[in-house]
Amino acid sequence: MAKITVIGSSSMDLVVTASKRPDKGETIIGESFKTVPGGKGANQAVAAARLGAEVYMVGCVGDDSFGKAILDNFKKNHVFTDYVEPVTDTKSGTAHITLADGDNSIIFVKGANDFVTPQFVEKALDSIRTSDMVLIQQEIPEETVEYVSEKCHEFGVPLLLNPAPARPLSKDVIEKAAYITPNELEASVLFGTKDIHAAIGKYPNKVFITEGKNGVRFHNGQQEVVIPSFPVEAVDTTGAGDTFNAAFAVALAEGKGFEESIRFANRAASLSVTKFGAQGGMPTREEVEESL
Ligand code: RIB
Repeated sequence: MAKITVIGSSSMDLVVTASKRPDKGETIIGESFKTVPGGKGANQAVAAARLGAEVYMVGCVGDDSFGKAILDNFKKNHVFTDYVEPVTDTKSGTAHITLADGDNSIIFVKGANDFVTPQFVEKALDSIRTSDMVLIQQEIPEETVEYVSEKCHEFGVPLLLNPAPARPLSKDVIEKAAYITPNELEASVLFGTKDIHAAIGKYPNKVFITEGKNGVRFHNGQQEVVIPSFPVEAVDTTGAGDTFNAAFAVALAEGKGFEESIRFANRAASLSVTKFGAQGGMPTREEVEESL
């Protein structure tokens, strides 16, 4: 069983479903409102655990009812919470999501996720050192991503960096991460160019661009390759990227090759969009294997 440490955000998603997005200054009637666990880090931890990995989450929640619900959700999904702590007098992170026109738009409010500092992560160094793979995203402070990339490099543990939401990265972090998985928009911010072919050509078997329905593009050292995604009827695309990243990490940590790992991750991501909520459709290992 692969051991994975996830360092990242844990939030509550506040999801409004509506027939359209309101224009500036417009009020419209929505269809429903739901609160469900989310946060890119937590989503990736839950997805990896459902896919059969031993998962340790490193993160912070608020000392509020959302924080309690987030912790309960980790436990329900067999994610170890030894390194998840509530922060006094602080609210949990929240994501304010509008689901309309078959897609989502999200405003993320950091809350307790801002306390996932290098000093906080230091407490989890033993878990990082003994992991087969470490997963990190960018809903936590930039210094933490830098610190974790250094530590993983020092320990010889592969780091999968999902650079979402987009922000520029230092050359050092790009060099030290083993795998980087931006979407097209994140790639253009990361590499400061819209020429993704040049960017992936420079980082063979390291930068994997997730292109939604098109699939995943990378350079295998000889040529550029696109591994197509699996077409499905999407109910809610929230968390599809997180499911992809978790599944890719699990497959790579188990020693699968790049193409096989991407196919596995694409399959998991395609199943995840068939149900409501970031974690609602995240499949189990058996579900992915059956559908492959
Ligand atoms: O990647 C999807 C997640 O990002 C949502 O669950 C939400 O929390 C947002 O921050």
